Amino acid sequence: MSPQDFKKLAELLRQRSGLVLGEDKAYLAESRLTPVARHWGFNDAAALVGALARKQGKGGDPKLIADVVEAMTTNESFFFRDQKPFDQFRDVMLPHFLNARKQRRHVRIWSAACSSGQEPYSLAMVLKEQGAKVQGWQFDILATDLSREMLQRAETGLYTQFEVQRGLPIQMLAKYFTQDGDRWRISPEIRKMVTFKLHNLLEDCRSLGKFDIVFCRNVLIYFDQQTKARVLGQIAEVLADDGFLVLGGAETVLGISDRFKMMPGQRGLYIHNKADHATASQRG
Ligand SMILES: C[S@@+](CC[C@H](N)C(=O)[O-])C[C@H]1O[C@@H](n2cnc3c(N)ncnc32)[C@H](O)[C@@H]1O
Repeated sequence: MSPQDFKKLAELLRQRSGLVLGEDKAYLAESRLTPVARHWGFNDAAALVGALARKQGKGGDPKLIADVVEAMTTNESFFFRDQKPFDQFRDVMLPHFLNARKQRRHVRIWSAACSSGQEPYSLAMVLKEQGAKVQGWQFDILATDLSREMLQRAETGLYTQFEVQRGLPIQMLAKYFTQDGDRWRISPEIRKMVTFKLHNLLEDCRSLGKFDIVFCRNVLIYFDQQTKARVLGQIAEVLADDGFLVLGGAETVLGISDRFKMMPGQRGLYIHNKADHATASQRG
């Protein structure tokens, strides 16, 4: 692939998904785009990128562009990834809302960039484990991603042996999955707790409604500073005044957005800069 075409590919990805493709990533583009190129009848990745580059600014097949963008995103995910955010969900966020929302008994959670579904399903399993504590409460979990392929996988709720061995405690596997051939299927009671929807984080998210908790993990790392700030700004708009934002282990708001601050003593957990959770809990 020529350096000029690679540059155009990088620009297309930045515009469509926020992904920053460094100059040293030509090999990655080649390997990830080769199957897309074959599928679309091109000789190789270079021919596909060349064709896209020639079309740039003049439209181009939106389905082909979507396939290219999806192929270039990193979809790695696993159940209870990093564990701590899920402990914080159970021990910090849930107790807060069980008090602060005791009138409404309704909590909305957004798993932004959910990939193949392990994150929202992990949250659903934590909720299920609460038993009588959450009886009579409504918890909505909305899980979104840019990738149609990942959403389809997530909706199907089928995981390989390798995927269920990464992070998922064995008791949870026994309780919430059934074997289906050489795969594991998530139980209908967990499946129905999550709604999946296509959403690009670069687009306005206000139509998704307001949220009490936003998990936006391991996606900002792929964006430049400006895009990170824009996405965090949008999340701030839809997060309840006493809401929580959870970022990935390698992500922070520091030096990027002044809309959030870290919750004291809770690494990775953010609240609105002006939030005062002590008083918010009293509201009911
Ligand atoms: C590494 S996965 C993270 C999955 C999960 N949050 C976790 O931490 O395990 C990153 C996901 O972000 C999605 N993604 C990348 N750019 C996006 C964008 N602009 N809008 C929405 N999703 C995006 C990718 O499709 C991918 O599924």
